[in-house]
Amino acid sequence: MIAHRGPAMSAFMHELREKGRTAHRTESDILIWAGSGSAGWEAGIVNLLSPGDTVVATVCGAFGERFAWLGGKFGLNVHRVEVEWGRAVTPEMFGEALDVAGDVKAVFITHNETSTGVTNPLKELAALARAKNALVLVDAVSSAGAMELCVDEWDLDWAFSGVQKAWMCPPGLMMAAVSERAIHASKTAGFKRFYFDLAPMLQAAREGSTATTPAVSLLYALDAALDAIHEEGLENVWARHIRLGRAFRAGMVELGVEVLAEPGYESSSVTAFRTPGGLSSTDLQERITNATGIVIATGQGPLAKTVNRVGHMGWTEQLELDATLEAIGAAMR
Ligand SMILES: Cc1ncc(COP(=O)(O)O)c(C=O)c1O
Repeated sequence: MIAHRGPAMSAFMHELREKGRTAHRTESDILIWAGSGSAGWEAGIVNLLSPGDTVVATVCGAFGERFAWLGGKFGLNVHRVEVEWGRAVTPEMFGEALDVAGDVKAVFITHNETSTGVTNPLKELAALARAKNALVLVDAVSSAGAMELCVDEWDLDWAFSGVQKAWMCPPGLMMAAVSERAIHASKTAGFKRFYFDLAPMLQAAREGSTATTPAVSLLYALDAALDAIHEEGLENVWARHIRLGRAFRAGMVELGVEVLAEPGYESSSVTAFRTPGGLSSTDLQERITNATGIVIATGQGPLAKTVNRVGHMGWTEQLELDATLEAIGAAMR
């Protein structure tokens, strides 16, 4: 470990932020807080917005639901674009909602809805929001590092993730790509804030430091993960995720299991499927874990008992997915 206020830390932080920029396809700022993915919702809201601001939020599962709910908790005027869980928010729906909502200060977009295995068409949705001059806040918790995310080209303002997902790290950091426009908006944002205040964090980051004590060991993990990603090549990493997602879904079809995601919007980082064999989701989960040690997830919210999920993001290999498919098949029999 290095002294977190010493000169080695400053060089390390500058390099880490540069690797983070490359991984987000941005020339702008990368800020990293100790915290989980949820911190990205809160930090985005308090830094970019003010009570009473109107926002349009995609809601197609548990995480979009929570982002929209949190906006309401903070006193924002939240217009939800809500679809059945398993479906995506299309540009047509989103454009209509932007028109109805009127003077929209920002949009909340869940890029990849981890609870349903659906990827929303972020590039198109962001373009519609930017055409209305709205700030674009993106929950990229289960997309960043796994799928195409081009912060500058797509003109995103606050794209955040938790490092425990496709960044392949132990949990405990939230990383946000922050645009110049977001930094400008934060100067007049009306929420009180301290730990998540962008201004001191940004100043410290540009000096190769952090505003509060950094989680040094986790930053090392992130550095190693970003090295691995850049060694493989970012586009190769995205392509690998697409391949693994396709292969897993093909395996599901072979087993006769129904994938939840609407065709055309299937996630390449996680697959949700209707629990087969007349079992409950926890029954299937237990059978698989008891037989093989493999841990699969259940659904969330209204899908808790009837859906299971398998993550195929980050450091995942075809062999592991084959073993998981075999285990699901055996548990169904
Ligand atoms: C899309 C999405 N957003 C937000 C979160 C919340 O992140 P955390 O549990 O790390 O706070 C998650 C967690 O799985 C998620 O998948």
